[in-house]
Amino acid sequence: MRAPPPARPRRGTSTSSSGARCARPKSVVAVARSELSIWATGQVQPRRQRDGLYDQAGAVHPAKMWPRIAQSMIEHYSSPGEAVLDPMCGIGTVLIEAVRARRHALGVDCEAEWVDVARANLARARRTHPGTDGTVFCADARNLAATLADQPGGLPVDLVVTSPPYGPAVHGLPETARKTGGKIVRRAHRYATGKPHPGQLARGSSQKRLRTGLASIFGGCHTVLRRGGHMVITARPYTDKGELVDFPAVVIAAAEDAGFAYTDRHAALLARWDEADQTLYPHVTLFHLGNVRRQVEAGKLGIVRAHEDVLVFRKSR
Ligand SMILES: C[S@@+](CC[C@H](N)C(=O)[O-])C[C@H]1O[C@@H](n2cnc3c(N)ncnc32)[C@H](O)[C@@H]1O
Repeated sequence: MRAPPPARPRRGTSTSSSGARCARPKSVVAVARSELSIWATGQVQPRRQRDGLYDQAGAVHPAKMWPRIAQSMIEHYSSPGEAVLDPMCGIGTVLIEAVRARRHALGVDCEAEWVDVARANLARARRTHPGTDGTVFCADARNLAATLADQPGGLPVDLVVTSPPYGPAVHGLPETARKTGGKIVRRAHRYATGKPHPGQLARGSSQKRLRTGLASIFGGCHTVLRRGGHMVITARPYTDKGELVDFPAVVIAAAEDAGFAYTDRHAALLARWDEADQTLYPHVTLFHLGNVRRQVEAGKLGIVRAHEDVLVFRKSR
């Protein structure tokens, strides 16, 4: 499929990623030379991308990756028969897409409730793809190398694909006024319907805790990945109290600190490109649009999400 041109900015919103409040990544010059490609991962709504392949119990996870994004990352950066690891696997989207692409799937998540769903999803995918293999560990990924030391396929892995949790500002599934009798509430706002695991990176409101946790998880990924293998991560900027947080820059800094080289960046569309009217239509909820409108009306920054950054790192030594 031909890559569509970038989204046209919509009236009343800003898609600028400047003005970030975090440190500039070390490799910004190298990235300026790399090629940006746009992946048409939003031609079908995310709910439809999961149709018949995923257990309903995963619907309450607040930040699932879109299956087409996971599929594109796996197909670009690994080959059939290779081992793909997601150290923060949630309900297992990366694992399911890995098995469907005939890769060996390994997943880790610290929340038992998501691990149960990921195991159910993985079992279902393996039934329809005989001869494939996969394991999900319930563990704190800050101890990744120890967790994977005894896994059946052996180390190293060939590819790491993941989407880290964001700070609490963006967590949560809004529940409609009809369900809650008038109020709009956010459920699973800390990546757990009950008490979160002590290692949960999205626990509390500290950005520093999130960054430190990411750095140790990426350190473990560097240890278990083969030399020359890639770590591919989705991230997007978000607003917190009207201020832009450049989360991709946080991820880049943590990955570089862990020893990875930042090699490429792609844009995975969260929107449908309509060839006939040459327009991008973002798949957003009315809840999200209402939030953006309120921010803009209050003179703050509002972003209608149309893409997610796909950040690519390589283990070169
Ligand atoms: C953005 S979600 C990943 C969603 C996943 N890609 C999917 O499609 O379901 C981030 C996940 O990281 C997990 N997580 C947070 N801290 C963790 C830690 N220390 N170790 C392992 N998993 C962790 C959360 O429980 C959450 O499920």
